[in-house]
Amino acid sequence: MDVLDDLGYQGASPFKHGIASGDPLQDRVILWTRITNDGSISATSIPVGYTIATDPEMKKIVAQGRALATSESDFTIKVDPKSLQPNTTYYYTFQALGYISPTGRTRTIPQPNLPANQVDRVRLAVVSCSNYGFGYFNGYAHIAKQADISAVLHLGDYIYEYQEGFYRDQSLIEERPIDPKNEIISLEDYRRRYACYRTDIDLQECHRQHPFIAVWDDHEIADNSWKGGAGFHTESKGSYIERKMSAVRAYHEWMPIRDDSSNELDSQLRIYRRFEFGKLFDLNMLDTRIFGREKLDATASNEPERQLLGVEQENWLHLNMLAGKRRDAKWQILGQQVILAPFRGASATNSGDIWNGYASARDRLLNFIENNNIDNTVVLTGDYHASFAFDVCKNPFDGDSYNPSTGSGSLAVEFVCPALTSLAFPEKGAGPEANPHQKFNNQTDHGYMLLDITEQAFQCEWYYTNTLKTRDDSTRFAKSLLTQAQANHLIEGEQSRPITNVAVLAAANKAVGVKI
Ligand SMILES: [Fe+2]
Repeated sequence: MDVLDDLGYQGASPFKHGIASGDPLQDRVILWTRITNDGSISATSIPVGYTIATDPEMKKIVAQGRALATSESDFTIKVDPKSLQPNTTYYYTFQALGYISPTGRTRTIPQPNLPANQVDRVRLAVVSCSNYGFGYFNGYAHIAKQADISAVLHLGDYIYEYQEGFYRDQSLIEERPIDPKNEIISLEDYRRRYACYRTDIDLQECHRQHPFIAVWDDHEIADNSWKGGAGFHTESKGSYIERKMSAVRAYHEWMPIRDDSSNELDSQLRIYRRFEFGKLFDLNMLDTRIFGREKLDATASNEPERQLLGVEQENWLHLNMLAGKRRDAKWQILGQQVILAPFRGASATNSGDIWNGYASARDRLLNFIENNNIDNTVVLTGDYHASFAFDVCKNPFDGDSYNPSTGSGSLAVEFVCPALTSLAFPEKGAGPEANPHQKFNNQTDHGYMLLDITEQAFQCEWYYTNTLKTRDDSTRFAKSLLTQAQANHLIEGEQSRPITNVAVLAAANKAVGVKI
């Protein structure tokens, strides 16, 4: 092994915040780690080696390289090794300061032209709203144990910005203290909050076993963010734009996301992006929060030019959906933050903090789907701390344009992810009695969604954790709904079987790293 200069370092393993991978493509995947110097050296750049192999013992090495972790990026590093094989599981390690990291596992995606029936089945986990102070990350722990998951989609609220003691389980304040204690505003604050979350061993384990494909929601910046402000940001806290850019910079430093911007701050805002999983599906990850969103104003919802995605992202999405249809991708997935389907619920309806508050933007999207005969659109949504499923139609409350028993009139389907840990806020009048197109409603439990995708059907299952008060990775299956190809509406499903003969998980290794 290439022995890296230890710079005279005397401390413990520098891989205190784990390792991670993300944004898999057919020939590359982002590998991430952070080098935590315990203070015994004053270097502003630290050499880091990485090794990629096709076996968990790291004997069949396919790539090796070096990079520098610098103070400029909070000593986080990302490498994006190219020339990997499509649809293949890899194992990887980092080396720095005389230590080797635990072994990670990741997977590239199928090549775009692989026929859907050859992609066979793909399973994805979907999470959102993972507030550290509200409890143990048991959902992440359960996902980490499943070898057949190709990637974890995080739909945002990966961290929360609040000060200690606010919006958390007060009984866990000793066990799960947050850092820093103040509401996070500066770059240093945001960095420290990510570092705090990343000390969680279940989150580390989930990152170690699976690539993540993540987008932010509002709490990665501030509650109810939009492009020019945030509900929770007041002038006394300083410039919103400066705060937003600090949050965005820390996000790029700490998340395993591909940054194609050459570090230009404006481009770091552009995180919407697309993944082509063979011809089985296109995954369009969207930003309905800070790239193009106009200020919350429920009364402005129907103004013709009302923007939630912003013109640039909206055009990008339309072009991608047309491209997906042209290349015959079976499913078009939109991974995004806020509820798309017209929805009657107390808080969202009043605040307008879902597509309801941007109704003309929703009309443009649904008209586009209808006018271009785009079938098989599946919307994935976070943010709401509840599990819902919807047939998505322009007017679900009008019996002439939508039939809830047959699904006729539905243009797409939507699955809403429960919070992993954040507080649920059950509201009355948000169920099927008020929403005939709502096919599932659970507003109390925590957990995640598991997607099981084939050419014939797109299935979503909800799994709930049994407690947030202690570490306990047991879960229970709650519900399965699916849409069949070309049906564009939901029907009941059954719990799917795990995929067999998949590459093994990276070996259990609770240590943060060992001396070379
Ligand atoms: Fe949330």
